[in-house]
Amino acid sequence: MTDAPPDAAPASLGPAPVEVRGLVKRYGELEAVAGVDLTVHAGDVYGYLGPNGAGKTTSLRMMLGLIRPTEGTVRLFGRDPLESVQALDDVAGFVEAPTFYPYLNGRRNLELLGSFDGGDARERIEQALETVELSDRAKDKVGGYSHGMRQRLGIAGALLRNPKLLLLDEPATGLDPAGMRDMRLLIRRLAEQGMTVMLSSHLLAEVEELCNRVAIVRSGKIVYEGAIADLKRSAGATYWLTTTNDERALAVCRAQPGIEGVRTAHGRIAFTADDAAVAELSQALIEARALIQMLTPQTVTLEDLFFSLTEGDGIVNGGRPAGEPATLEASR
Ligand SMILES: Nc1ncnc2c1ncn2[C@@H]1O[C@H](COP(=O)(O)OP(=O)(O)O)[C@@H](O)[C@H]1O
Ligand SMILES: [Mg+2]
Repeated sequence: MTDAPPDAAPASLGPAPVEVRGLVKRYGELEAVAGVDLTVHAGDVYGYLGPNGAGKTTSLRMMLGLIRPTEGTVRLFGRDPLESVQALDDVAGFVEAPTFYPYLNGRRNLELLGSFDGGDARERIEQALETVELSDRAKDKVGGYSHGMRQRLGIAGALLRNPKLLLLDEPATGLDPAGMRDMRLLIRRLAEQGMTVMLSSHLLAEVEELCNRVAIVRSGKIVYEGAIADLKRSAGATYWLTTTNDERALAVCRAQPGIEGVRTAHGRIAFTADDAAVAELSQALIEARALIQMLTPQTVTLEDLFFSLTEGDGIVNGGRPAGEPATLEASR
């Protein structure tokens, strides 16, 4: 988390790398993407997070101009990828898995890719191989590459286009732990070099570690869009409390301003509050002679929030009391 880029992307001149408005894709009865709005700012590492089947790949396909939206618009740096070839000038990426000739080596595959993009793309091959740490294996046939190496070669292929925006569909899915770590380091390195990255994922830990902003999707709809830090803040801190007289303490909590979502769970009182309200509460408990035995803040992880947003009732569950993210109500 500490290594993730700051919440506020640097103020950028010109149109945002990605602006999606009212995006819909229907396949017969099925609404794979059901009205998505999102904005990726320059400098973002933006996570498009949702369970399998949420419509991530379909959305990215529309963003890359590979399929036509049923409704809505995509703008990449202000341009429609379906209307102008230039819209994709500064953009590269791939959905699902990159495709290569397995019987050719890594470098040769990049040479073929580069030849589509004209002269100077070829000059970038060595640099791209270096960036994705495949220089040593560039002479080996891609058929013998691991899944992680192929993903990295896919990114190298994208880098040949010298993009300002990289769109990646589940780049770490299916990789072993070392492969995931390499992928994270690579994406972070690209972000540090100033590239804007949008990646889809169903892996919370990945998004939490890499991204500054996130869109959480459920069944084709965005249930939250914004800074991860804001999402966590909006959930408030949840506390667990036990006292010398829990019955009285419960009444105090319920009457106390700023103490929200009071309930009992697992033999203790749970509530949501900010620091100031907790301080006031401790005073009120003393006055009511319900003395604190334990008062512990529970950290809300992105995982808690994800499940609260993508499953059922929208309340954080799993047997652990947690705050209802109040500001998310409006977006549901
Ligand atoms: N070409 C297609 N024809 C019919 N249904 C599709 C097609 N592509 C995707 N879908 C359906 O749209 C939904 C979203 O798919 P997808 O975008 O691949 O989700 P994700 O990438 O989030 O797992 C799924 O129910 C999937 O079966
Ligand atoms: Mg997918």
